[in-house]
Amino acid sequence: MSAHKPKALDGSFMLAFGTGSTWRKEDSEALNTGLIEIVKEALQLGYRHLDTAELYNTEREVGEAIKQSGVPVSEIYITGKVFTMSDVQGAFDRTLQRLGVDYVDLYLLHHPYFAKSNADLQGAWTELETIYDSGKVGAIGVSNFTEDHIRTILETARIRPACNQIELNPYLQRTQLQQYHKKQGIQTFAFSPLSPIVRASPGPLDSDLESIAKKHGISTAVALIRWALQQGIAVATTSTDKARMKDHLLALDVSLLEKEVALISRFGAEKHFRGRWNDKFAPDDRS
Ligand SMILES: NC(=O)c1ccc[n+]([C@@H]2O[C@H](COP(=O)([O-])OP(=O)(O)OC[C@H]3O[C@@H](n4cnc5c(N)ncnc54)[C@H](OP(=O)(O)O)[C@@H]3O)[C@@H](O)[C@H]2O)c1
Repeated sequence: MSAHKPKALDGSFMLAFGTGSTWRKEDSEALNTGLIEIVKEALQLGYRHLDTAELYNTEREVGEAIKQSGVPVSEIYITGKVFTMSDVQGAFDRTLQRLGVDYVDLYLLHHPYFAKSNADLQGAWTELETIYDSGKVGAIGVSNFTEDHIRTILETARIRPACNQIELNPYLQRTQLQQYHKKQGIQTFAFSPLSPIVRASPGPLDSDLESIAKKHGISTAVALIRWALQQGIAVATTSTDKARMKDHLLALDVSLLEKEVALISRFGAEKHFRGRWNDKFAPDDRS
């Protein structure tokens, strides 16, 4: 049995420093020393959740940064993701080796779209369950899953997904999927929380978001992250800029009024923006 005690995804673990998107590398061999420094900086600033994936080719940098940081790995929440559906166990073993750890807190099926069929998806989930049984992961979950994908794995699952990491922000609130998560006891975990100011600006949220941020003496980025956290949604964000990395951590401490959270949701709902997997959804599909 594992010597590791599973960590709850709460407190400071609710805000993850991401090593995908801008950090993703095509070359798995080369080591990005800049990324090692940034992840070290993230840990020194106080991030305690690191989000990585087989697909990003950033696992070795994350592992090296953890080692160099001096922060005990037992204090860090590590999320990993697998996209090799055909051999999840092999991919997981390589992930542990690249990270230089013997345990990952949360391990996710990265994309349902890499499965060739429902049986393929269910088979990959069964492999994740076997990894969970080995005690080498604290929890298993999914990412980029729709309600239908979750239903498919639940048909044969022994263990329910602990979370679904999805694109989510005020311009893509996925209310119905979130309600389904709640019903099934699945934690919602958002990525691309900053789309309204980074990818989908200008928009109907701009002026209210700015006044709410100004009132609390925070940046609009912090207001967006807090909007999600305050609804119990875990968040992965990232930056190459140390001042922004530090700033985003304020989202763990600040508190918005419930009416401000509701206002951001209301004005956010006036626009629909999806940054990823647009080919899998109709243009007006907000699920
Ligand atoms: N499961 C999945 O399929 C999936 C997909 C996407 C992402 N993710 C995870 O989620 C993490 C975050 O995703 P994301 O990059 O899409 O999220 P994001 O936090 O919405 O966007 C980060 C981008 O916003 C910019 N930025 C950060 N702070 C800013 C600010 N205060 N003002 C203006 N621009 C700002 C950053 O640029 P600078 O570097 O210039 O600050 C960076 O390019 C990834 O690293 C990855 O770990 C998972």
